[in-house]
Amino acid sequence: MRTTPSAITMAALSAAVLLLAALSSWAAAANDGQQAGQAAGGGGYVQPAYHQPVDGLDPGYYQHSCPDMEGIVQRAVKKAVAADYSLAAALIRLFFHDFAVGGTDASVLIDAPASEKYANASKTLRGFELIESIKTELERRCPKAVSCADILAAATRDASTEASLLFFPT
Ligand SMILES: *[C@@H]1O[C@H](CO)[C@@H](O)[C@H](O)[C@H]1NC(C)=O
Repeated sequence: MRTTPSAITMAALSAAVLLLAALSSWAAAANDGQQAGQAAGGGGYVQPAYHQPVDGLDPGYYQHSCPDMEGIVQRAVKKAVAADYSLAAALIRLFFHDFAVGGTDASVLIDAPASEKYANASKTLRGFELIESIKTELERRCPKAVSCADILAAATRDASTEASLLFFPT
C-alpha cells in the first residue's frame, strides 16, 4: 500500500521549513552584526576554535621529514583495531592517562623502574605494543624524525575515528 502524506503533515513540514528559514536568516543577521567590527569580507562563517591555527603548531610539520607519517600511523591503527576493536578505547584511555600527568608528552610510554607506566593507575593500560611497533616502523622509514607524543596523539585520533567518533586534525 502506498502511503500519502496527509495535508496536516505537509502543512507541518511547510511550517517547519519556514521556521528554519526564518531562524537561519536571523542567525546570519546576528552573525553579520557580530562580525561587523572585525575584518570585512569574512562572510557569515565563523571558524570553530579547533580549526583555528595555534601558535607553534603546524599541521604540515612532518611534510618534509616524514611525509607519510600520518598514513603509517593510520594504517597500523586501522589494522590493529580491526583485529581487536577494544584497542580503540584502550588507545583513547592511554592518551588520557598520558595527558593526566604533565600533559600529552608521551611520558606514560617511558619504560623505567617507578615510571608512570608502572604506577598503580597504569596497571590496566593497554596499547603500548601498538605504539611501539608504530615507532619502530617510523624509525625505519624516517629515523629520529617523529616524536612519541605525536605518534600517540595521531594514533588516538585514528582510534577514535575507527570508533566512529569525529576526525580531528592533529
Ligand atoms: C599500589 O597498589 C597496592 C595494592 O593495592 C598498594 O598496596 C600500594 O600502596 C599502592 N601504591 C601506591 C603508590 O599507591
